[in-house]
Amino acid sequence: MQSITFIGNGNMALAIAQGLKHKFRIEVIGRDMKRLDAFEKALDVTIEKRLLDDADIEGKTVLLCVKPTNLKSVGKALKGKARLLLSVLAGTSLEVLRKHIKAKGYVRAMPNLAARHGASMTTLTGDDAHKDEATVLMRGAGDVLWLDSEKELDIATALAGSGPAYLALVAEALADGAVKLGLKRDDARKLTEGLFQGSAALLAHQHPALLKEEVMSPGGTTAAGCAALEASGARAAFIAALEAALARAQALSD
Ligand SMILES: NC(=O)c1ccc[n+]([C@@H]2O[C@H](COP(=O)([O-])OP(=O)(O)OC[C@H]3O[C@@H](n4cnc5c(N)ncnc54)[C@H](OP(=O)(O)O)[C@@H]3O)[C@@H](O)[C@H]2O)c1
Repeated sequence: MQSITFIGNGNMALAIAQGLKHKFRIEVIGRDMKRLDAFEKALDVTIEKRLLDDADIEGKTVLLCVKPTNLKSVGKALKGKARLLLSVLAGTSLEVLRKHIKAKGYVRAMPNLAARHGASMTTLTGDDAHKDEATVLMRGAGDVLWLDSEKELDIATALAGSGPAYLALVAEALADGAVKLGLKRDDARKLTEGLFQGSAALLAHQHPALLKEEVMSPGGTTAAGCAALEASGARAAFIAALEAALARAQALSD
């Protein structure tokens, strides 16, 4: 069984490891043995645990899952040269990665939290020589799309990396709306969950504009609801959210 070494034991490392734990032997490098133990417990498989000060990445396939601001100190602590470095750090360029961590090949990956359920929409970009390997690896956590440039990956970060939070906000708002109208909280939540599942199935087969038109009958309830959304600037609000997230990714890379 091939091995993969995670650097970092936070939310994203755990989410991706959940998807890979039956396909790879997992090693995790962290800075606190208690948190590494908790990671192993949450993952529910035996892993190799190593403290950062004692870590050697020579010849390994490494998945970097710390915060962008930790890159410098983590790079200083690591010994050896990885075979492949896959980084999930938002807004952190290949050039900056090369400066701080030694590896033969570099790929940036932008997964989302759905990796926890093997349902991440992950984008990748980097050294073409590692395209196939990185694609196969990240497929363990869901669907994968290779992009041609880092600029596109930063845009993908704003859309699909942060996206679960935007949709969680929409789900919460819809359920709150139903509760405001008098539906019980549990029923509103159940309905919203089913709505997202059903809409995902529809969107997999149909263009969103056509889907919207199909639901919206003349003078009907959906037309009234959509008009209210447009009057509140819902579309513009989502476009502004992506612009703000991209600006933040660019600020993180400075
Ligand atoms: N969360 C998402 O949905 C998402 C989506 C796409 C990409 N990402 C990217 O994933 C990366 C990790 O995010 P996360 O959500 O997993 O964050 P997180 O849960 O806060 O985990 C951060 C990890 O970094 C470690 N760390 C913190 N400070 C450190 C230091 N000074 N030196 C060494 N390690 C340190 C933490 O170790 P301790 O446990 O010891 O504190 C932890 O293992 C980020 O770069 C983010 O851009 C996240």
